[in-house]
Amino acid sequence: MLKIVVCVSGGGTNLQAILDAIDAGRITNTEILAVISNNPGAKALERARNHGICGICMSPKSYPDRETFNQAFTDKMIELAPDIVVLAGFLVRIPPRMVQVFSNRIVNIHPSLIPSFCGVGYYGLTVHEKALERGVKVTGATVHFVNEGMDEGPIIAQKPVLVEQGDTPELLQRRVMEQAEWILLPQAIDDIANGRLEIRDNQVYRR
Ligand code: GRF
Repeated sequence: MLKIVVCVSGGGTNLQAILDAIDAGRITNTEILAVISNNPGAKALERARNHGICGICMSPKSYPDRETFNQAFTDKMIELAPDIVVLAGFLVRIPPRMVQVFSNRIVNIHPSLIPSFCGVGYYGLTVHEKALERGVKVTGATVHFVNEGMDEGPIIAQKPVLVEQGDTPELLQRRVMEQAEWILLPQAIDDIANGRLEIRDNQVYRR
């Protein structure tokens, strides 16, 4: 059984996609140990608790400085001891020590085709605003492992989504979620849980 902790910050629609996929048997061999949010008001926490899953709030704002938060957050994760950590719309930078301890065991979803529209400052609606500004005709989503860089770890899977005439950042964000994110992330978790992936030379391969 793959034990996972899901980290969230907001609406939690990606978390919901994971919960629904587990219920529907599209993700197998997987147990969610806990959901951690940096935001006490996150709807995602409510979704977790409605599902009988332990929802934990850990906000950098409740600690004297980032270093103390980083230590507490990493220690909490070590205590929970998941096989993998899933970042499902988590807006806090992962502490370097956590990246080391959980090397190639932290999975993130990003709402663009990396390496486009990613890196520092590219989160939330900004990603879609920049894609529209540039006039790309195809965008999408990427699931990747997390390393020390920003959106730079080995890519697990990507799914393209067409940009349409008249798109606003909000419309595009929704389409990327519906057509890519909510499909890709559950699939990646199921692939990991069932041993279908391996990492060689910093690249992800299917067995
Ligand atoms: C998603 O677009 C995800 O790719 C990004 O943040 C958003 C989170 O949405 N990292 P939700 O909280 O899962 O609804």
